[in-house]
Amino acid sequence: MKRIGVYTSGGDAPGMNACVRAAVRAAVYYGLEVYGIKRGYNGMINGEIFKMDSSSVSNIIQKGGTILKSARSKEFMTKEGRQRAYDQLQQFGIEGLVAIGGNGTFTGAKLFYEEFGIPTVGAPGTIDNDLYGTDYTIGYDTAVNTALEAIDKIRDTADSHERVFFVEVMGRDSGYIAIPCAIGGGAEIAMIPEAVTTVESIIDTIRAGWGRSKTSSIIIIAEGEIEGGAMKVATKVMEVLPDMDARVTILGHVQRGGPPTVFDRMLASRLGIACVKGLIDGQKNVMAGTINSSLVYTPFEETITKKKEISQDLIKAVEMLSV
Ligand code: F6P
Repeated sequence: MKRIGVYTSGGDAPGMNACVRAAVRAAVYYGLEVYGIKRGYNGMINGEIFKMDSSSVSNIIQKGGTILKSARSKEFMTKEGRQRAYDQLQQFGIEGLVAIGGNGTFTGAKLFYEEFGIPTVGAPGTIDNDLYGTDYTIGYDTAVNTALEAIDKIRDTADSHERVFFVEVMGRDSGYIAIPCAIGGGAEIAMIPEAVTTVESIIDTIRAGWGRSKTSSIIIIAEGEIEGGAMKVATKVMEVLPDMDARVTILGHVQRGGPPTVFDRMLASRLGIACVKGLIDGQKNVMAGTINSSLVYTPFEETITKKKEISQDLIKAVEMLSV
């Protein structure tokens, strides 16, 4: 293998730049030519492909977002789109790919490999931490710390005004962001897709708090939980407790930005190198990740179909610590 391409795709995540940097520099280290592909699969289809070298990735390790830009490509979901992408890669002589992204990115990469045989090794880049085959995804640690900082601030005002705050965090179909926010933020409840929390139980918890002279509460709601988000949950609770002074805060995309933590920079650097080394060693159609601190390669098939479970201990801890 002489020439590889690198792209970021799907929702951006802090640390993606550190991973691009590591992939580019590892390629240079191993004597490969490396090309950047802009705007994920859209750029692959449109030929937004350019040569990179060591200096192309100077001064980016500390930056959030992705210098390669990102997109969720509808066209790549079609056979014609993938054919166009393949033709572009052929023109540039690209023989292997480093894909930095999440579930959708790897679903596309797997199809692409099956149809056209271009070996791809992925690095898990998503704030959601919802990928099977790695304990942590790039961007998750930063996102959780960003959310927690906001929750600490919300707690100040909740306490001053003696209010209940319903705080919605991201995570798509998973509660991986919500759980550490609830434990670390001292919340009474975490409502997550992986566990059933009824509106009635929230009402009971708030009432029990009032019974203990508790005047403010934080309820963390994962965006993917079954009731449909913080606004809906708060409305239902307020119907039963009309005297409750409550507010809703949706943290939203603030969770996706900002400089990556040292944890994310380290993980991204390690996995960027692992992608390139993996390609050189003949890995294909797999995601590089770390499990119990060891480097592992997991087939895309598993990363996209298997559910990464949240520890029941942690779910229980939220309940235990809110007594
Ligand atoms: O996958 C990352 C993520 O931020 C999810 O947590 C969220 O559901 C989604 O992306 C939001 O996507 P978009 O930026 O396209 O609105």
